[in-house]
Amino acid sequence: MKVKTIIEPFRVKVVEPIRMTTREERAEILERAHHNLFLVKAEDVLIDLLTDSGTSAMSALQWGAMFHGDESYAGARSYYRFEKVVRELTGFEHIIPTHQGRAAERILFGVAAREGMVVPNNTHFDTTGANCEASGAKALDLPCAESADISSDFPFKGNMDLAALERVVAENGPQRIPMIMITVTNNSGGGQPASLENMRAVAKIAKAAKIPLYLDACRFAENAYLIKEKEPGQGDREVIDIAREMFSLADGCTMSAKKDALVNIGGFVATRDGELAQSMRNLLILTEGFTTYGGMAGRDLEAIATGLQEIVDEDYLRYRLASIRYVVDRLVALGIPVLQPAGGHAIYLDARGFLPHIPPRQFPGQALSTAIYLEGGIRSVEVGQVMFGSDKETLAPKDLVRMAMPRRVYTQSHMDYVLEIVEEVWRRREEVRGYEITYQAPMLRHFTARFKQLG
Ligand code: F0G
Repeated sequence: MKVKTIIEPFRVKVVEPIRMTTREERAEILERAHHNLFLVKAEDVLIDLLTDSGTSAMSALQWGAMFHGDESYAGARSYYRFEKVVRELTGFEHIIPTHQGRAAERILFGVAAREGMVVPNNTHFDTTGANCEASGAKALDLPCAESADISSDFPFKGNMDLAALERVVAENGPQRIPMIMITVTNNSGGGQPASLENMRAVAKIAKAAKIPLYLDACRFAENAYLIKEKEPGQGDREVIDIAREMFSLADGCTMSAKKDALVNIGGFVATRDGELAQSMRNLLILTEGFTTYGGMAGRDLEAIATGLQEIVDEDYLRYRLASIRYVVDRLVALGIPVLQPAGGHAIYLDARGFLPHIPPRQFPGQALSTAIYLEGGIRSVEVGQVMFGSDKETLAPKDLVRMAMPRRVYTQSHMDYVLEIVEEVWRRREEVRGYEITYQAPMLRHFTARFKQLG
């Protein structure tokens, strides 16, 4: 018999209590935090779905590996173990450790990009776009057309628009395009995977134009598993084999190890290009640390090495993807507008569909995420007008509310609670009100913005 119930393929050894709060307390907490969930203290949150980044539960093996951390300044044993594991996975020659993903981005763009250049990507994550543009280059998003339709179940909405890419390459050439990037999975576009077929085609365009291709690889294993599940002809391959092919198509990658390396801090940038690596190492020493630790402790390097070995476990990935799908399928059954199909690491509610009475310039995503916090203490994040609009209020393409799932942290009953709360907000959606911004920073405003609720 084929068992239908997919279980968490681990048991719990250490627990962290959750502090319960009342609705009245949460109303006060929201006021104090200027209605910005980034400004709420974590102990005032019941279920924290703000991010899947750096929030993983580490395994007993990872904690054990941390005791083996070699904290030597130069040439630590832990670095060589980390380098070996990353090299075996990616095939890249030069592996440069950084304290997290955005430091890898800063170093890559800092060396390779400058004013007058353009970097195409399926969709830049916010820090990736900001770091690219801080170098003077333009960050250009070229998601496939299917990604615009929230409810279509096209399996590879993380694909790049190939025709648009060819146009941009023809217009700018290799002198003005320092690299093409593919973000796997496409976080800002809904945690959606890119197919191998699409990545192969992008690699072909890049190669023909002599432009290097880089992966933003933070969720490479989730992308590889979704390829195994959905891409014709890939079902019988091992996930590690698919992942290796993804990396083989590229010339390098940036990686936030806080996602698919199952650690709380860390990252790296990797490349096949020896000259570029040399320049990146010089910048690394200036801003991150020596080349064999780059902003991490030896124990962090050990935890990443073990995490990268664990993440490609197919029982884990089957459970991981099933837990996201479980929530999305129920929301769809309840008629609640949610981005489909289920992606790799998060559930994305469609705030414009959920709250049609709140116009985009009154931040429906912000309104929905605070309403969910008020109702049940669940912290999510707005991915829409606040994150991607600007002080001139150009319109973001979508208003989503992301509920990102920390890895190996919450169980199915936590998800049932999430569903109950979202359903309750849905029932009372007409009471939810929009916002105006009373303070904003010039860049990445969502982290610190303050809001006033409209009447
Ligand atoms: N690229 C992608 C696709 C990401 O999702 C992130 C982080 C980064 C790069 C930057 O990595 O945080 O280690 O500096 N995403 C987190 C999130 C913050 O919540 O999605 P970092």
